[in-house]
Amino acid sequence: MADILDWTNADLNRLDMAAYEARADEMAARLKQETGAGRLPFLTMPYEAELKAQLADLEGFLKGFDHMLLLGIGGSALGARALQKAFHPGQDQPGHTGRSLWIADNVDAYALAAYMEKLPPEKTVVVTVSKSGGTIETVGQYFIVKEWMRGTLGDDWAKHMLLVTDEKQGFLRGEADGFGIRALPVPDNLGGRYSVLSAVGLIPALFLGMDTDALMAGAREVTAALADPGLDGGKLAAQSAFRLAAWGAALMDKGFAEMIFFTYIPLWASFGDWFAQLWAESLGKEGRGSQPVPAVGVTDQHSVNQMFMDGLRNKACLFLTCPNLPAGPKFPSDLPDQFAYVRGKDFGELIQAEGLGTRMALSESGVPLVEIRLGADSPRQAGKLIGLLGAATILTGWLMGINPLDQPAVELGKRLAKARMNADGLEKEKADLNGFLTA
Ligand code: PA5
Repeated sequence: MADILDWTNADLNRLDMAAYEARADEMAARLKQETGAGRLPFLTMPYEAELKAQLADLEGFLKGFDHMLLLGIGGSALGARALQKAFHPGQDQPGHTGRSLWIADNVDAYALAAYMEKLPPEKTVVVTVSKSGGTIETVGQYFIVKEWMRGTLGDDWAKHMLLVTDEKQGFLRGEADGFGIRALPVPDNLGGRYSVLSAVGLIPALFLGMDTDALMAGAREVTAALADPGLDGGKLAAQSAFRLAAWGAALMDKGFAEMIFFTYIPLWASFGDWFAQLWAESLGKEGRGSQPVPAVGVTDQHSVNQMFMDGLRNKACLFLTCPNLPAGPKFPSDLPDQFAYVRGKDFGELIQAEGLGTRMALSESGVPLVEIRLGADSPRQAGKLIGLLGAATILTGWLMGINPLDQPAVELGKRLAKARMNADGLEKEKADLNGFLTA
């Protein structure tokens, strides 16, 4: 695979890259061990053939619907939104009449009420996505939407539902079995934030008419070499994902506490939120990691870029570009002299110039920056980006000596919220909460 990373502004001389590059053999051995044991389905995609068959089977079923209401949160929603915004922009534009995807990923009474008031139930399929099948924010929405569907569609309600959850266990699996609701599995060992290229993200992508094969093929371009049983340290050292991981870990050692994800593909802005979850939940551990900061060009040049340029000198940047964005409209050739410099040029040229200007400005301000240069703003390239960033995140975690696949710290707030709602078996949390409230 041609390298899509440009290291010109990465400031490698300021970093101790060698310390991490020297660990390529160790990382290759670990990759072989983990992929061999089936613990890294993000890289091996053992479910790919089965999933393709399931998606083909689903196509006919989805034909009956104009709206998809997706209930999910975190990794069960962010990838779908990134794909929707990137490849189904018509939905956000005036006059849209085709299919629509609505993503309910919060405890937001207004949004949920609006969906139930405005969406026609007979033309709506509700997809509930929860790997654990027990996340209250998602299952809570499911309870309410299920009642709405039942009330409006009667016995047909279950035919308008689709569940994406663990193959064997969890509350939603019980719902699938009990009510005969169609269900697709989240593969074992595939954590939420690594699951966009499974049924989790590909069902909404399919509904919106995206090329799901291309998405998977793009990821494979990056991950195949990492999952190859013939991998050794020499081969791994040449992989973009490993080099990015070494850079990420070396930056943290030098106190770079923030990792900006600056995209100059405007429709891909929501990949910033997807990346933020991936990087933060995977690497924010044991007092370490770097804070992901999503930004979009050119909008954020007129906003947070001031802080990037001249705030605390603790920032590095992943800078996403595509030299082949659509040209878009041309500026008239009779513009006033003050704007003569854009006469006859097109929108595409302007955004490329803005991207170049920002890249150089950041770099001159001392922000180490790696450019991720995609050949096209296509599903295949999006798959490649997902594969690259997911793999680099896992390797960064291993190089840091932490587990990039768990997220223990986010559990505490969830447990305390449940205690507040008087869930069973959380006596210590209830006592702690009382103490906190009366202190
Ligand atoms: O990355 C993760 O594992 C999490 O962000 C989960 O995706 C999120 O908590 C939702 O979990 P679930 O799919 O079990 O409802």
